[in-house]
Amino acid sequence: MLQDVSPMYHSYEIYNMSIVIAIDGYSSTGKSTIAKRLAEALDYIYIDTGAMYRMVALYSMQAGWVSDGRIDKDALVAALDQIELSFVRDASGENVAMLNGLNVELAIRSMAVSQVVSAISSISAVRQKLVAQQQSMGQSKAVVLDGRDIGTVVFPEAELKIFMTADSDVRASRRHAELQAKGQSQVTLSAVRDNLLQRDEADQARSDSPLLQAKDAQLLDNSTITPDEVFQVALSWAMLAIAGKA
Ligand code: DC
Repeated sequence: MLQDVSPMYHSYEIYNMSIVIAIDGYSSTGKSTIAKRLAEALDYIYIDTGAMYRMVALYSMQAGWVSDGRIDKDALVAALDQIELSFVRDASGENVAMLNGLNVELAIRSMAVSQVVSAISSISAVRQKLVAQQQSMGQSKAVVLDGRDIGTVVFPEAELKIFMTADSDVRASRRHAELQAKGQSQVTLSAVRDNLLQRDEADQARSDSPLLQAKDAQLLDNSTITPDEVFQVALSWAMLAIAGKA
């Protein structure tokens, strides 16, 4: 029997293999940019797990459970079943975060939310709920997730794990420019930098699922390379991981 060995046949086969791609790393290292581009290129689903923690933070703030940096954890934990998180795609194909059916995409990116989200994400009951939802969203594979614990806790068997890092000044400048573009012009560069460093420290220090590089994750430092170069590296790793499954 003749075997089809044409390159087209092979690339078609490779494209049809579904894997889980886990992208973890420090705050504002470009995880979501690369995750979105990979998902688009591979026709996979993109799950922004940080947005899920941000939505829980926003809900808590709106409910009045956050004041002077203190959180009413008991009230939040008791209400967890009433918090429904989902994503929809807007007309331009962008993911939009939905909290109990309302579009909160802009609100969850505010500095006020950034200031409480690490504390919210250190609550174990919150993590349990969100991790279970993330696992169920990714169970059929063909997903790219970005966060802090994807390769270590959510999908420890992910076929490709990438851990992103970058110089903190570079990260702060990029984040600051993003906030300016979104109309948050009152936020200073130093406030952005301080927030990034505080969140990194809190995310690494928490006892439940701290931020750390999985042993089998590939390190990607994007301090000096362009987003296109980062994407090319990540895509080549993804193709190798997919081919490994074929
Ligand atoms: O990716 P981000 O900056 O939007 O994430 C916001 C916060 O949520 C981050 O400071 C830590 C927390 N987080 C987490 O603990 N685990 C995840 N998988 C994703 C985010």
